Amino acid sequence: MRSSGKRIGVLTGGGDCPGLNAVIRAVVKTAINVYDMEVTGILDGYEGLIYPEKAVALGYDEVKGILPQGGTILGSSNRGNPFAFPEERDGKVVAVDYSDRVAENYHRLGLDGLVVIGGDGTLKLATRFKNTRGLNIVGVPKTIDNDLSATDVTFGFDSAVVTATEAIDKLHSTAESHHRIMFVEVMGRDAGWIALHAGLAGGADAILIPEIPYFIEKLQKKIELRESKGRKFSIVVVAEGARPVGGEMSVVKRPAFDLPRLGGAAQRVADEIEKLLEKETRVTVLGHIQRGGSPTPFDRNLGTRFGTAAVHLAAEGNYGRMVCLRGREIDSVDMEVAVEKKKYVDPQGEMVQTARALGIDFCSMPEGSAGQEDVKL
Ligand code: F6P
Repeated sequence: MRSSGKRIGVLTGGGDCPGLNAVIRAVVKTAINVYDMEVTGILDGYEGLIYPEKAVALGYDEVKGILPQGGTILGSSNRGNPFAFPEERDGKVVAVDYSDRVAENYHRLGLDGLVVIGGDGTLKLATRFKNTRGLNIVGVPKTIDNDLSATDVTFGFDSAVVTATEAIDKLHSTAESHHRIMFVEVMGRDAGWIALHAGLAGGADAILIPEIPYFIEKLQKKIELRESKGRKFSIVVVAEGARPVGGEMSVVKRPAFDLPRLGGAAQRVADEIEKLLEKETRVTVLGHIQRGGSPTPFDRNLGTRFGTAAVHLAAEGNYGRMVCLRGREIDSVDMEVAVEKKKYVDPQGEMVQTARALGIDFCSMPEGSAGQEDVKL
């Protein structure tokens, strides 16, 4: 096929999620089929632009059969900020600024534009490269956490909710058999979307999320009420970023060049409940299982639509934009504005109120306090 002489690059940055390969496939096929462009895949996020050997040509063959596959054929990294890249020098890890090298390699590869698929961290860096080095970038939002405000949904979220809901369904039967209180920890560092959606879909008894700090006594009352009505088991969904009122998130590690690594939120709640109720508890941490596996049809299609829309923007020279979903339509927004605001669960919002109407407790009020939220079955 004759080439237009134009070439775009594509990279995936940050934590992976189901649907990334659908975007990559759509970028490659649209670029070739509609615009006769060539496509270069950049490996391992921005690292691929620091080390020149980390780039590959992408054609029909390279994207064959990847639509149902989880992960990303390009690899990803969430430790690769090129403006402060962690590198060992004289036995010490120091931050090295490789941003000039990234810009040089972008030009050396002959890129007319670059499609950056990532969450808020990766897209903030994309904006910085656009502003400080003039790189032509189009953003594609991804994250299982669904916490980007500029798009109604990110791909990966639906697949993660399906995984978490299936786990809750499975835990239900064993919890019931053994009259146990089961805690399920799901991802969601700052936003409790996965916990809320999977908890509601899975019929949880309580949901603890970062946006609504919890009172442990409230959870105790909820479980006691269930027991008094003959419900000898309970399911509590805990987002990894959940914390008690006046307390901190559960952190297992604070790396120098990365966000604090979360862990232990559900175990912490389970331990306290075990003490308060003198009843056995069990904890299941779903962790990275939520980021893996085949994307749902919704995520495949959203990823595909995002990938195609990103290539249209690049072909029009409409750089500095991020594709997004508004209602049922694909749209785009200024990438700089898009990454400014995260999207959190509204404690007064419809979904939380619906869950409350069904008796799902968020444990937000201490027992006996004024304006106390009732404990309901
Ligand atoms: O941002 C998505 C996310 O899944 C968060 O919910 C979680 O805290 C984080 O990634 C974990 O990332 P990793 O363990 O890959 O560094």
